[in-house]
Amino acid sequence: MNSIKVNLGVRSYPIHVQSGLLKETASIISDQNNGQKWIIISQYNLMELFGFNLFNQLKDAGFDCNFITLPVGEVAKSLNEFSRVMSQMVELGCDRKTTILALGGGVVGDVAGFVASSFMRGVEYYQIPTTLLAMVDSSIGGKTGLNIAEGKNLVGAIYQPKGVLIDPDILKSLPQEEVFAGLGEIIKYGAIWDKSFLSDISSWLENIDSFPFEEAISRSCQIKAEVVSKDERENDSRRILNFGHTVGHALESHLGYGKIRHGEAVAIGMKCAGFISEKLKMISKEDNLILSKTIAKLPLPSLPHINGSHLMPFIKTDKKSEKGILNFVLLDGLGNAISSTAVTEELIKESLKVLH
Ligand SMILES: NC(=O)c1ccc[n+]([C@@H]2O[C@H](COP(=O)([O-])OP(=O)(O)OC[C@H]3O[C@@H](n4cnc5c(N)ncnc54)[C@H](O)[C@@H]3O)[C@@H](O)[C@H]2O)c1
Ligand SMILES: [Zn+2]
Repeated sequence: MNSIKVNLGVRSYPIHVQSGLLKETASIISDQNNGQKWIIISQYNLMELFGFNLFNQLKDAGFDCNFITLPVGEVAKSLNEFSRVMSQMVELGCDRKTTILALGGGVVGDVAGFVASSFMRGVEYYQIPTTLLAMVDSSIGGKTGLNIAEGKNLVGAIYQPKGVLIDPDILKSLPQEEVFAGLGEIIKYGAIWDKSFLSDISSWLENIDSFPFEEAISRSCQIKAEVVSKDERENDSRRILNFGHTVGHALESHLGYGKIRHGEAVAIGMKCAGFISEKLKMISKEDNLILSKTIAKLPLPSLPHINGSHLMPFIKTDKKSEKGILNFVLLDGLGNAISSTAVTEELIKESLKVLH
């Protein structure tokens, strides 16, 4: 089993990556079972796909286990759902010793993680991500979040899990578009951290049927773990994980949620950030071409015409802007990202021409 450590002192935890791992869950976490209640938080479709098997596996191994389901989609990330899950936990007799297993994509992970952070002032939880995006991104680093009417992820906490269990076999049932969206984030890790990983990804993408998911996920998790270990609360170096996200988030908000997947928007945002990095002579034309050709191997949705002036307000209100100054992540050489406050509105608007 490939185990990667997120190094955060007393809050350190392992990320285990291995095909077939879900079937081994009970034995992997058995030393943490002290007779407490275990709650699987998931979605009903995922319970049918693999959650009930996990539930039975845990029961057979002597775990006192229950499950709670959330609706599918962003609607689950609401204060209403949060409050419903909290009440259900009390009804099920949960207490401070209860352990939560978040079985699902980023939506389940964000809600279950926030529930764990606040139920009885905090209980332990494990992330068992089931989408590629969740495996390489949202399950690691402890960011949890709910949406309110005023915006996405405006309520939340940074609360680290006890461990992350990743079984790449689970991806077999994931719709292909969701897989490609997750690949957008994997390309990001190559671009910001490791040029040779980017070149591997590029050649692996020539034939998606033989894409080595276990290897790509492990490498992505190593990179995320390394970045998060240095800057847990995104004061500084963790910002590089937002490469492609400034324009990406703006596209998601401008087009409306559900119109474009997060990973797809990030892939397009990385093309803009690559353009700006080249324009500022921070990467060569050849290196930017390597990046854009890799991104072009993903089947991205064709966008309606986007007027830069309409997108700019979303870019300016990006969460990464502090005191009105925008932190824009650029490449200072392929495989090396930096956060810059020197990117002008004109340059961002000019970069939007890569959208079409
Ligand atoms: N906390 C973080 O650091 C962080 C980072 C990135 C994104 N996010 C959040 O993650 C969310 C998006 O997550 P997502 O892309 O994983 O989407 P998601 O959780 O909505 O999952 C997408 C769909 O796939 C289904 N699904 C999940 N796994 C499946 C499987 N193995 N087989 C078949 N169907 C499966 C789900 O039921 C859902 O319908 C957003 O809310 C975003 O804000 C959080
Ligand atoms: Zn992302």
